[in-house]
Amino acid sequence: MSGDGGPVLITGATGFLGSWTIAALVRAGHAVVATDLVRDTRRLDQVLPAAELAAVDWRVCDVTDGDALRAVVADAAPSAIVHLAALQIPACRANPVACAQVNVIGHINVFEAAKDAGVDRIIYTSSAAAKPRGPANAPANLYGVFKKTDEEIARIYWEEHGIPSLGLRPFIVYGVGRDDGETAAITKAIRAAALGEPYAMPFSTRSCLQYAGEVAEIFRRCTEARWQGALVSDLTTETSTTDELIATIRGQVPGAAITPSDRQRVSPSDGFDNGPLKGVIGDWPATSLADGVADTLRRFRELAAGAR
Ligand SMILES: NC(=O)c1ccc[n+]([C@@H]2O[C@H](COP(=O)([O-])OP(=O)(O)OC[C@H]3O[C@@H](n4cnc5c(N)ncnc54)[C@H](O)[C@@H]3O)[C@@H](O)[C@H]2O)c1
Repeated sequence: MSGDGGPVLITGATGFLGSWTIAALVRAGHAVVATDLVRDTRRLDQVLPAAELAAVDWRVCDVTDGDALRAVVADAAPSAIVHLAALQIPACRANPVACAQVNVIGHINVFEAAKDAGVDRIIYTSSAAAKPRGPANAPANLYGVFKKTDEEIARIYWEEHGIPSLGLRPFIVYGVGRDDGETAAITKAIRAAALGEPYAMPFSTRSCLQYAGEVAEIFRRCTEARWQGALVSDLTTETSTTDELIATIRGQVPGAAITPSDRQRVSPSDGFDNGPLKGVIGDWPATSLADGVADTLRRFRELAAGAR
């Protein structure tokens, strides 16, 4: 059950990380209130058996609608909020105003709703995109600027209202259900190998490639923890290159037709610190790239075969 009896409320629940996080919470016996723009279990169906879906209480809610969100949070009386709702980089680049509304105003609405309902644990996803990089030593795009702004907003809600929050900075998370966003390319390469299809990587990079199952367990453990302050943390300090990814895939699927790219994706490749997160939940078992790729290959093959 949740640390203090109430359910865990998730925004962005139909998304990739939302689905994996719901599955981790349900398996651990938590009640879950799942919120998103629509009720769509297409991704959740890939990671949680249908029989276990009954534990999930779905509420349709747009995080840009502060009144609606406030009503849902007040009614659910959650012990913790996992705030994942956001637009990703391609959508953000295509429509910066809509992205600011979801990624910044929606973020403020979550803190306002938590303040009014007395929720004292918010776990939200910032992003490695918030980290400074390049000649300007700053986020490289508006998505990163908005995520950095979210971290500052969380700090102000701690300083002015005493709401503890934990901003986690995923980098590239992969696993079944990752079908959206620029860095979904990692998952798409593994899926193509599982299905015997060719895939051309759209970029080369050195990044943290982290398995969704590990990230969901981290979120689950955060909902059961207590801390003070507005903490911000990386999720891992391990990095891999896309060439290492391709070699790992080929080690498990000899002859996989994954073509590397000449386009270098500018990313921070060092200076990661997951100390603040470890201070909250302690150590956890990390999933190696080989194990994460193996599990993802297996799941894609099972899904293609019509099994879970
Ligand atoms: N997946 C990654 O590798 C990664 C990396 C860094 C940061 N993140 C962050 O983690 C979070 C979850 O990522 P994801 O991969 O699950 O993304 P996703 O795109 O799969 O899910 C985002 C969800 O937010 C919902 N949403 C969008 N606008 C909304 C609105 N106005 N109201 C309510 N819901 C809305 C979408 O419907 C979607 O289900 C996001 O904040 C993302 O920026 C993810």
